[in-house]
Amino acid sequence: MSATSPLSAADTDNPLVAGLERLPVHPTSLVIFGATGDLAHRKLLPALYNLAHEGQLPERFEVIGVGRRSHEEEEFRDTVLNSIERFSRRRPDPNVLEGLLNDTRYVQGSFDDDEVYTELARTLAEFDSQAGRKLDRVFYLSTAPEFFPLIAGKLGAHNLDHSDHAAVRIVIEKPFGYDLASARKLNAELLEVFEEPQIFRIDHYLGKETVQNLMALRFANALFEPVWNRNYIDHVQITASEDIGIGGRAGYYEHSGALRDLVQNHMLQLLALLAMEPPTAFDADRLRDEKLKVLEAIVPPTLDEVAGMTVRAQYAPGVVGGVQVPGYREEAGVAPYSRTPTYAALRLHVSNWRWAGVPFYLRTGKQLSRKLTEIAVILKQIPHIAFQSSGSVGIQANQIVFTLQPDEGVSVSIGAKIPGSRMRIRPVNMEFRYGTSFLSESPEAYERLILDAMRGDATLFTRNDEIEALWGIVDPILEAWDKDKSSTIPQYEAGSSGPREADALLLPGHVWRRL
Ligand code: BG6
Repeated sequence: MSATSPLSAADTDNPLVAGLERLPVHPTSLVIFGATGDLAHRKLLPALYNLAHEGQLPERFEVIGVGRRSHEEEEFRDTVLNSIERFSRRRPDPNVLEGLLNDTRYVQGSFDDDEVYTELARTLAEFDSQAGRKLDRVFYLSTAPEFFPLIAGKLGAHNLDHSDHAAVRIVIEKPFGYDLASARKLNAELLEVFEEPQIFRIDHYLGKETVQNLMALRFANALFEPVWNRNYIDHVQITASEDIGIGGRAGYYEHSGALRDLVQNHMLQLLALLAMEPPTAFDADRLRDEKLKVLEAIVPPTLDEVAGMTVRAQYAPGVVGGVQVPGYREEAGVAPYSRTPTYAALRLHVSNWRWAGVPFYLRTGKQLSRKLTEIAVILKQIPHIAFQSSGSVGIQANQIVFTLQPDEGVSVSIGAKIPGSRMRIRPVNMEFRYGTSFLSESPEAYERLILDAMRGDATLFTRNDEIEALWGIVDPILEAWDKDKSSTIPQYEAGSSGPREADALLLPGHVWRRL
C-alpha cells in the first residue's frame, strides 16, 4: 500500500487546508470478524477505502476478513468492492481500490471453530514474514455481542492476544452489555485475555468531527469557558432525532430500545464531553478520567423519581418524508404488544460545583420529522432589558448550538438590532460550518476511529470504568420502566416531533427546541 504522505506544498499554502495532516501509523494487519455483516459492509470497508484514498494507511497494511459465509477469496473481494462502490463517500479510484483489494484475504468459518484461529495465525505469520517484520495486529469484532467473549477467549487460547515486538489490540462495538451486571461480566471476560489498554470500545459518536470540535471550542478559546457553568448556563438540550425506523433490526431493537441504543452510550458521552472539567492534556487517560468524574456526578433518578424525570414512547403509523410508514408494533419482527420504547427523553442533573441546578435534557427517537443531532447550550436571560421604552420585544437568551448532523457546525445566536429607527432586537446566528471553513468534507467517524485504534490512541474510545458508570445512570430507569406494567406506553405519530408527554419533563420556562 502507499506510504503515509504529507500534504503537498501546494496544499499547505492554502490556509483552508493548512493543519490537515496525516499521522504516522505502524504497519498493521487488520482482522475483521463479521466481515460479511452489515456494519462492515456499510461502514468499515468504505472507511478503509477512504483512508487508503487519502494515503492515511501505513505503508504495509493487510486486511483479513473472517466470516461465517462461505466465500472464495475472489468472492470476498467482490463483496468488499461492492461495499466501497455503494457506501464510500468518495468515488473509488481504480488504482487505490486495486491496492486495497490486493492486500485483502478471507478466512471462512464459525467463530467457535479452532481451525479459524489456526488459519488466522498462519496468515498473520505469513504477512509478518513477507514484511520482514512483525506487523501490529488489530482484531475488529464487528459481530453480535454474544461472540465477544468467545472470540476474545479463542484469540487468547491461540496465543493471538499478544505478539513479541508488536502491538495487539481488540476493537469492539456496542452494545457493551445489556445492563450494569452484564457489562461488568463482559469487562471481566475481556480482561481475562487482554489488558485494558489493548481494548478499544468504539462509540462512533466520539469519532464525529463536531464532537471533537466541542472540545476544541471549549478548550482552545478563551471566549466560552468563562460562561461554561451554572452562573451563565440556564439549561442544555441534547437531541438525537432520526427520521428512520428500525429497518431490519427488530431482533436487536426489541431487546434494546431507545435508552440502551442511543442514550446509554452516544448521548451520555456527549453530555460528559460538554460538562467535564478541562483535562490537563488531551490524552486517553486524562480525558477519560474527566469524563468519568462527570458521569459519576450524575445522580441517577430513584425508582420513584423516574416517572417525573423520564418519558418513553413508541411511534405509531404516520408519514415521514412524504411516505406512509407503519407503527413500531406493526414492524416485522416486533411483538404486537411490545413495550420497547423507540423514543426516550430524560432530565438529568450533574451534581457538582460547576453544574448544580442546571437541567440537562436529552431526547432521542426514531421516525421523527427529521434527522437532527445537536447539543444546544441555552444561556440565562440578561438581567435587565434597557430597551423596553422603544418597543423591543425580541430579546432571547443566547444559545450555542453544536450540530453534529446533518450540517456539521457550530452556531452562536446573539441578539442584534433590526435595521430601522427603533431599537428592536432579534436573534441572529454567527455560524461556523465545517464545509465552508475547511475545503475538505468531514471524514466519517469510522475513518478516524479505525486509524486511532491502529495508532493505539484510545482517547476517543470508552474505558471499562466509563461503561460501568454509564450503565449506572440508566439501570434504575430501565428497572423502573420494567416494573411499570400498569399503563400503556405513550404513542407518537411517525413524522411528528415526538410525544406530547415529553413537555412534562421540562422545568417552567423551558421549551424543546424545534426539530
Ligand atoms: C447506532 C444505533 O448506534 O447509532 C442506531 O444503534 C442509530 O439505531 C445510529 O440509528 C445513529 O447513528 P448516526 O451516526 O446516524 O447518528
